[in-house]
Amino acid sequence: MKGIILAGGTGSRLYPLTKVTNKHLLPVYDKPMIYYPLQTLTDAGIKDIMIVSGRGHAGHFLELLGSGVDIGVHLTYEIQEKAGGIAQALGLAEDFADNGAVTVILGDNIFQDNDQKAVETFKNGARIFLKEVPDAGRFGVAEIKGKNIISIEEKPAAPKSNLAVTGLYIYDARVFEIIRTLKPSGRGELEITDVNNEYIRLDEMDFSQLKGYWSDAGTFESLFRASELVRNIRSETQESE
Ligand code: DAU
Repeated sequence: MKGIILAGGTGSRLYPLTKVTNKHLLPVYDKPMIYYPLQTLTDAGIKDIMIVSGRGHAGHFLELLGSGVDIGVHLTYEIQEKAGGIAQALGLAEDFADNGAVTVILGDNIFQDNDQKAVETFKNGARIFLKEVPDAGRFGVAEIKGKNIISIEEKPAAPKSNLAVTGLYIYDARVFEIIRTLKPSGRGELEITDVNNEYIRLDEMDFSQLKGYWSDAGTFESLFRASELVRNIRSETQESE
């Protein structure tokens, strides 16, 4: 399976940190942010990876990662000219996907779980990963009935559950057809939540709940918390060694 890291957008919520470099290259504890989604993909056995970047400081990715040889992966790069949404950024990876299934991860998402099994057992449709959070209204929020996912709402004022949809998705090749049918949302973006709701409508969505920590790192608070989380996990692991 191929992997796609979506690292477009403007990083405006982190200004002025993002004035002279790309949001996804800011430090999360002891590594640039993008190392974490890269690690999640490589832990899942994925080595052929496309990075979709915005125009701002895009050259910094090349300076840092080059071909990917230092970390044992093969990297391909694509540019999203304007921040037209997560689904628009994913649409740019259609040729790269080459009619196969893809694992997609947001460049500002930090995961602890190993998802190798979820990737290896994927057949078709779509698969998402949920995490219980105290502030669900900041995210896409899943409504679950029994074993089924009924709908996802993007940043609802009154969340129907405390289950956030994290920025890790597995899709079959139909995802690109679905993206072509999308209309921009109120915030002017092609929303990944609309893609996921279409798979739910087709009854082709499955999900699992993450056990380990998860954080995004796209705001000052969450960037700070992500660094703390990584630091805590590091020291726990060192203590048990
Ligand atoms: O973090 C998980 C959440 O990410 C999900 O729960 C939401 O459903 C999903 O919409 C998204 O919400 P955010 O509003 O936090 O997304 P944000 O605009 O911060 O973008 C997150 C990453 O997606 C960003 O670091 C890079 C990528 N992205 C975003 C946009 C808007 C792109 O590659 N291109 C884009 O145009």
